[in-house]
Amino acid sequence: MSYTSADYKKCGLPEFDCNPLISALPPILTYEDAALALSRRPMYDPGVRSLPAHLRQHAINAILHLFQPLSQHLDLEDKFSRMIRAGYERRTPTDLRYFATASQNARKVSLESKSTSAALGFNLVGTSGTGKTTTINRILDLYPQVIEHTRYEDQDIYHVQLVWLKLECPHDGSIKAICYHFLEKVDEALGTSYRKLYKSRSTLDELIPIVAQTAGNHTLGVLVIDEIQHLSTAKSGGSSRMLNFFVELTNRMSMPVMLVGTPKAISLMSRELRSARRACGQGEAIWYNVPQNEEWEILLNGLWEYQYTKDITPLTAEISDVLYDESQGITDFAVKLYMLSQVRAISHGIEIITPALIRSVAKDSLESAKPFLYSLRTRDFSSLANYEDVIVPIDFAREAKRRTPGKPKSKKPASNQASPVQNGKSKKSASPRGEQSSRESTGIASVHTESDKDSNYSKLEEKGLIADKDELD
Ligand SMILES: Nc1ncnc2c1ncn2[C@@H]1O[C@H](COP(=O)(O)OP(=O)(O)OP(=O)(O)O)[C@@H](O)[C@H]1O
Ligand SMILES: [Mg+2]
Repeated sequence: MSYTSADYKKCGLPEFDCNPLISALPPILTYEDAALALSRRPMYDPGVRSLPAHLRQHAINAILHLFQPLSQHLDLEDKFSRMIRAGYERRTPTDLRYFATASQNARKVSLESKSTSAALGFNLVGTSGTGKTTTINRILDLYPQVIEHTRYEDQDIYHVQLVWLKLECPHDGSIKAICYHFLEKVDEALGTSYRKLYKSRSTLDELIPIVAQTAGNHTLGVLVIDEIQHLSTAKSGGSSRMLNFFVELTNRMSMPVMLVGTPKAISLMSRELRSARRACGQGEAIWYNVPQNEEWEILLNGLWEYQYTKDITPLTAEISDVLYDESQGITDFAVKLYMLSQVRAISHGIEIITPALIRSVAKDSLESAKPFLYSLRTRDFSSLANYEDVIVPIDFAREAKRRTPGKPKSKKPASNQASPVQNGKSKKSASPRGEQSSRESTGIASVHTESDKDSNYSKLEEKGLIADKDELD
C-alpha cells in the first residue's frame, strides 16, 4: 500500500486541466513514449555467459520478465488512457455534491437493469497466451494506484483517489465472490478494512450498493476484470446478471469497467453490450497470435539479446521460421521455447541454439498443445472446430471447407502468414526452473465455432473473421 501525493499537471485540454482527478494522472503519452514506458528489459550482463552452467540456468529466468511492446500493446495503452480520462470527466470530488449524488446512484445499482449502453467500458478478447494479462499489468504500472489529494488550487481537500483496481473473475463466476474480492482488493490498495467491516452483509442486495459506494467514494478510475470467460460457469443467476452489474457500475458511477478474456468470453457478452462499447471511442480489441511479419521480428529482436549459452546464436531467418512454425506466433509459446531451448542447450552441453534443438524442445514441452498447433499450422478447420475457444477467419474456413468436405488433406504449413485463430490454454504455465517441469498442460480450452449462434460476435463478423458454417458453401 503506497499513496502518491497529487501533483497536478496541465496538458492544455481545458476539460482535463480543470479536473483534479485527471490532472493528477501521469502525462498522456505519445506512441513513442508509450513504447519506452511499457518496455521491460531486465538487467543483462554478457559476462553471465562465462558463468558455470548451474548459475546460468537460474539467470535464464530473466527472459520471463522481459516485455517487448508491439503495436497492439501501444493501441491498448492509448485506449486505456482515453478510457480512464473519459470516466473521470464527469467526476469532481472538489464539489461535495459529487459524493451525495454518487451515494444516491450507488443505491440504484441493480442486477436486473436492462440498460446496455455501457459506452465507457472496454473489452479485450484474445487468444490465450497472447499477453493480455502481462500487457494490462504493464499499463497499470504506468499509473499510481492511489493518489492522495490534500490541496487543489486554493482549496483544502482531502480525497483518496483509487486510480485502478484489477480483479480476476472467480472460478465459480459468482457475483457475491466478485463483490468480496473487490472489497479485499480495495483494502489491499488503500489499507482500509471494508471486507471486515461488511463481513456480516451477506446478501447481494446489501453487497452491491456497498461495492458501488466504495467505488464512488474513492473515485475508482477503472475496474479491470480479467479471466472473464469464467463467467461461463456462473452461479448466482448466470453471466447476464454479472454483466448487468458491470454495466450498472459503469453507467451509474461513471466508472469504466474493462472486461478481459479469451474468445470463450465472447458468447457471454451480450451483443448490445458489445455494440454499445463499439459506439464509443474506446470500443474493444481483439488479439490474435503475432503474425509472421515485422511484428514477429520486433518480438524476436527484443528477446534475442538475452542469451545465456556460451556461444552466441545469431538470429537467422531459419531460426525465426522454426520458432514461428513451432509457436504459431503465440507469444507465450514463443518466449518459452526460446527460454527452454537455452536451458536444454546448456544442460546438454550444446551451448548454442539450433533449429533442431528448438524442434526437440517444442516436441517435449508443447506436447499437449501439439494437436492444436498442428491444426493451426495446417489450417485444418474441421479439426479446429473441435475446440471451443478459437475464432476462425472466414477465408480460412472457406478454404478449408473447399479443400476438405470430409477429412483435411493439405498438410502444407502456413507458417509465414498471420493465422488469426484463437485458442485457449490451461492456466498452468511453464515453471521457470527447467524444461522437465515446463508447461504441465497446454491443453486447449475451447474453440468458437460460428455455428454457435450465441457466439455471434458482430464485430468479428463485420471484419469477416467469422462466419456461420452454413454460409461457407
Ligand atoms: N510482449 C511480450 N513480451 C515478452 N513476453 C511476453 C509478451 N507477451 C506475452 N509474453 C509472455 O507470454 C506469457 C503469457 O502471457 P499472458 O499470461 O499475459 O497471456 P494471456 O493472454 O493473459 O493468456 P490467458 O488468456 O491464458 O490468460 C507471459 O508470461 C510472458 O512470458
Ligand atoms: Mg491472462
